[in-house]
Amino acid sequence: MAKKAVLQPKTLGSYRIENAQVEARIVRFDQLVQNGIPLMFIDSSLPGHQRMNYAVIGDTASENSDFEAAITAPHKFQIGMLCCPPNSGPAYHSHDYCEMFFVMSGRWRFYWGNDPEGIPEGEAILEPWDSISLPMHLWRGFENISDTPAWCFAVLDPHDQFRSKDPYWSERIVEQAAKLGFKADASGRMIKPKDYAARKAKLAAKLEKAVKKSLKMRPKAKTLKARVSKKKK
Ligand SMILES: [Fe+2]
Repeated sequence: MAKKAVLQPKTLGSYRIENAQVEARIVRFDQLVQNGIPLMFIDSSLPGHQRMNYAVIGDTASENSDFEAAITAPHKFQIGMLCCPPNSGPAYHSHDYCEMFFVMSGRWRFYWGNDPEGIPEGEAILEPWDSISLPMHLWRGFENISDTPAWCFAVLDPHDQFRSKDPYWSERIVEQAAKLGFKADASGRMIKPKDYAARKAKLAAKLEKAVKKSLKMRPKAKTLKARVSKKKK
């Protein structure tokens, strides 16, 4: 009988990964939280849609090119995080790709439909550890319905940034954003208002307060370590 070929891991051959390469792929939350993006999208200034976004891997559908993701190595998926004050979250929008959301804290209402200007056709309330995957082309929005700021993270299919409009916003959102001076060009890149810097500073101050409040509710690393060592005894 013929001997089966033994497959060798690539690391035993010519392919080697140095520690520095791996360490460049570690994201410490304490650092990430200092790099919040208050105006990632054209709806981010609108009441009810204000939020702090964080790019962990990839562009995470951003219309704003003023930042770099925490992990810059190319991946076949994209990961973003967001912290929203109560009654706030992304406005009705759609993508040419799938995106999923995982709730980290608080309660969230996700709603969706097929008509960008119509009444949503469905909704679901999600709590921590719940997740939802939204198919491409579906119109969707979501909001934090807790009485405190809350977090969730998103995983997006791979996509090219600034090739075309992304996200697609409902017309009413495009109109509301335009009144504040925010638009997106045909490639999906944000056209900023003249008072962009002042708007960004004002919104950042407000959202940083919300983020700070949310972090007070996060279990402290020391508490977690104490729990683990207690279990070991
Ligand atoms: Fe989205």
